[in-house]
Amino acid sequence: MFKPTVESKNIPALFSPEDVKTFYNSNTDKFLEVYGEVIQAFRTKDVKDYLDYTIQNAELKDGQKILDAGCGVGGPASYFASQLNVDIKGITISDYQAAKSKEVLSGKALKGSVEITVGDYHKIDKIFGEHVFDRILFLESFGHSSDQNLLIEKAFHVLKPGGILYIKDLFKREHPNEEDGKKIDNIIDAINKAYSYNVADFTEVMKTIRRLNFILLFVKTPEVATEQFEHLTISNDFQNLFDIGRIITWDNYVFPLDFYEIKVMKPPFDINKEKHLYFLNRPEEVS
Ligand SMILES: C[S@@+](CC[C@H](N)C(=O)[O-])C[C@H]1O[C@@H](n2cnc3c(N)ncnc32)[C@H](O)[C@@H]1O
Repeated sequence: MFKPTVESKNIPALFSPEDVKTFYNSNTDKFLEVYGEVIQAFRTKDVKDYLDYTIQNAELKDGQKILDAGCGVGGPASYFASQLNVDIKGITISDYQAAKSKEVLSGKALKGSVEITVGDYHKIDKIFGEHVFDRILFLESFGHSSDQNLLIEKAFHVLKPGGILYIKDLFKREHPNEEDGKKIDNIIDAINKAYSYNVADFTEVMKTIRRLNFILLFVKTPEVATEQFEHLTISNDFQNLFDIGRIITWDNYVFPLDFYEIKVMKPPFDINKEKHLYFLNRPEEVS
């Protein structure tokens, strides 16, 4: 049975899974109207280019079993399964999104399969079992978590040895100086409240990843060509249209976020039985 190895050291989250569920049950139609079926702020003008980039960077391949944790209405999952013969399980906290995903899926010709479950991704070990997935994806969904250390542990247990955890999300910027730091904190606070988010602390996330002995494959800002980058226009439009986290003035605004991709591999052997071993940077994939 899975037991978390340490208590979460995160500052208690403002928003619980129940809050997030309420948020998406009330606002998914608004997201669909402005974002379409891919609910991600950092994207390309043609969002398919961004999903192709995700396929490449998360190394999604035929034959894999993939967990899309925080899958929205299934836009990304259905795109991946239209390109590849993969078996994707999606999980969303919102029953409204799960119902909408049926429409999204019915319009696509799939090479693989997509099955969407309503549930809390903090319980994926109970829902899906341990050592099941080749890939776990969090695509702008990780920061909703009310216990991010626990969530990474759960992902570790649910991955097969040699499986990859891929997180694409926004992280709070470090304070460049005291004055800008206060502005960053205030804006992050407003974002959290507007979106029922708990914007992640990159250092805390990396500490947990390293404590669990995940193998770090890369951390980087998504590499999108400037002419393809969507410049966060959709998210600004969304905020203005629906008055969700609307920015009243850009005077003195300090951009508060870093967008990162984090890609890590669960060691292909049991680190607790083989403590004397050091792993290669990139061992051959087991799966
Ligand atoms: C910004 S949307 C991103 C959706 C999707 N990844 C996409 O790219 O379209 C965040 C998603 O995370 C899901 N989520 C947030 N907290 C969750 C939880 N505790 N359990 C399961 N899903 C959760 C929400 O239901 C929503 O689908």
